[in-house]
Amino acid sequence: MKAIQILAHGGPEVLTVADIDPPLASPGRVLVRVAAAGVNFIDTYQRSGQYPTALPFVLGKEGAGEVIEVGDGVAGVAVGDRVAWAFAPHSYAEIASLAVEDLFAVPDDVTLETAAAAMLQGLTAHYLVTSVHQVSPGETVLVHAAAGGVGLLLTQMAVARGARVLGTVSTDHKAALAESAGAEIIRYDAFDDMTTELPDAVRALTRGEGVHAVFDGVGRTTFDGSLASLRPRGMLALFGAASGPVPPFDLQRLNAGGSLRVTRPSLAHFLATAEERAWRAGELFGAISDGTLDVRIGAAHPLAKAREAHEALEGRQTTGKVLLTI
Ligand SMILES: NC(=O)c1ccc[n+]([C@@H]2O[C@H](COP(=O)([O-])OP(=O)(O)OC[C@H]3O[C@@H](n4cnc5c(N)ncnc54)[C@H](OP(=O)(O)O)[C@@H]3O)[C@@H](O)[C@H]2O)c1
Repeated sequence: MKAIQILAHGGPEVLTVADIDPPLASPGRVLVRVAAAGVNFIDTYQRSGQYPTALPFVLGKEGAGEVIEVGDGVAGVAVGDRVAWAFAPHSYAEIASLAVEDLFAVPDDVTLETAAAAMLQGLTAHYLVTSVHQVSPGETVLVHAAAGGVGLLLTQMAVARGARVLGTVSTDHKAALAESAGAEIIRYDAFDDMTTELPDAVRALTRGEGVHAVFDGVGRTTFDGSLASLRPRGMLALFGAASGPVPPFDLQRLNAGGSLRVTRPSLAHFLATAEERAWRAGELFGAISDGTLDVRIGAAHPLAKAREAHEALEGRQTTGKVLLTI
């Protein structure tokens, strides 16, 4: 089968199409013909070696497709079922082997492409607004990269929970998308000094008070400005590092800022039990089905164009979800 397999860590150029043996059915696992694989920042961290992996390695954490074979001991999943997954390895491939507990059933009214597009970023947005900080009516929150994959979903979910959302973006096109998702726009590309100009812009929009929470997946370039944009007892959820990792910082700054809180959460820890997984996926698919959550697929590339997909994602060229269709 064809798969995107890396033989060495490096830039997008290490992403090449390989002809490899397909996985075999094994106990407790199913084989899925992959219809679409999601492209996520974690794939770029694994490709570059920032998150080391064994080599050779087939990239991809997320996807959706149709079950073509079930292993021994598998119950509740049958050949022909439409399934999706958010956090299981080796999805940039024609066929993937998945543990049954990693699968979500895709509702009939949701396409496999939309399911692949919604899983990782949608479940992330869900745990951020429900469990990391329970976004509540009357609150104001700041969402960075609000036209990105997580950003557009997070913005819509925070608005649906009654919050006012300030969203940072870097282009007019991204501003229009984030605005239609419900955000008030801050153009952080215009700032010479993010550390002072971002909190100034936030305070100008909040009568000097700052925001209740910041959802920051950008990292290095925004972290200091994010911290300074919080009101006392505010929460900074640093959930990614699109601009690079945040260096160590002095915890005393949390006291000086007003008993602030910082967390560095990860999706895997918020899919801890079967009940938690079912709750999050149920709410996510429910919102897609009833039309209250719009999953924007910004680009869909064939598998062989994985390199271009990574270049665009890392180069700030994408909006919404980037997919590999297979
Ligand atoms: N912790 C978790 O559980 C979890 C799960 C999923 C994703 N994440 C993280 O969430 C973040 C967003 O992921 P995503 O897949 O939805 O990506 P994305 O937001 O669609 O793309 C990243 C965006 O970040 C902004 N950005 C600002 N500075 C950047 C820079 N120097 N290089 C690249 N991008 C920059 C860009 O938007 P502008 O041009 O508008 O600035 C860019 O489009 C990533 O950090 C990812 O690792 C974390």
